Amino acid sequence: SRIAVFASGQGSNFAALAEAERAGRLGGGRIELLVSDRPEAPVAKRAEEAGIPALLLRPKDFASRELYEAEIVAELQRRNIGLIVLAGYMRLITPVLLAPYAGRIVNIHPSLLPAFAGKDAIGQALDYGVKLTGVTVHFVDGGMDTGPVIAQRSVAVEPGDSAESLAERIHQVEYELYPEIVRALAEGRVMLDERKTVIRE
Ligand code: GRF
Repeated sequence: SRIAVFASGQGSNFAALAEAERAGRLGGGRIELLVSDRPEAPVAKRAEEAGIPALLLRPKDFASRELYEAEIVAELQRRNIGLIVLAGYMRLITPVLLAPYAGRIVNIHPSLLPAFAGKDAIGQALDYGVKLTGVTVHFVDGGMDTGPVIAQRSVAVEPGDSAESLAERIHQVEYELYPEIVRALAEGRVMLDERKTVIRE
């Protein structure tokens, strides 16, 4: 299936997905487009290096969030994109994008949802003092990190962890988990029934 990755920042998950595709680990999944709301973000350079086309739009150049997303939807449809993979895309999605891609948008979040939704999940986990946190891949709905969970992996918080050291271990888990789940989605192996998901072998 034809994939668009949406990202706002560093793009290390974007790079991990691109590398997985190169290594034949995305099944039939092909990353056809990067969408970023921050043209100056490092992820844009990563797309250029990987030879992946990028749609770089500043939301503030549009009269509304809806018009910004309508422009994105037009490009996704031109390219026949079937799956949207959010990887550090720091915006809520509106119905303009959700409606045409219902059940075909996923996100990765650096906590075990529903704990620590929203910004700085790693800092939130450290502040709370949990001993176990992790990574969640989930379907996206209109809320903040609220759609049905597809997969989770735990990461232990070690005594003396800083935000940096914990983030580093969480990222390593993300780079493994996201390509695995994107592959399952591309191969049509993720089934959704109400909030419950099942991944067929
Ligand atoms: C990741 O930790 C992801 O879970 C969160 O944003 C971060 C993006 O990092 N949603 P990167 O831009 O992929 O390096």
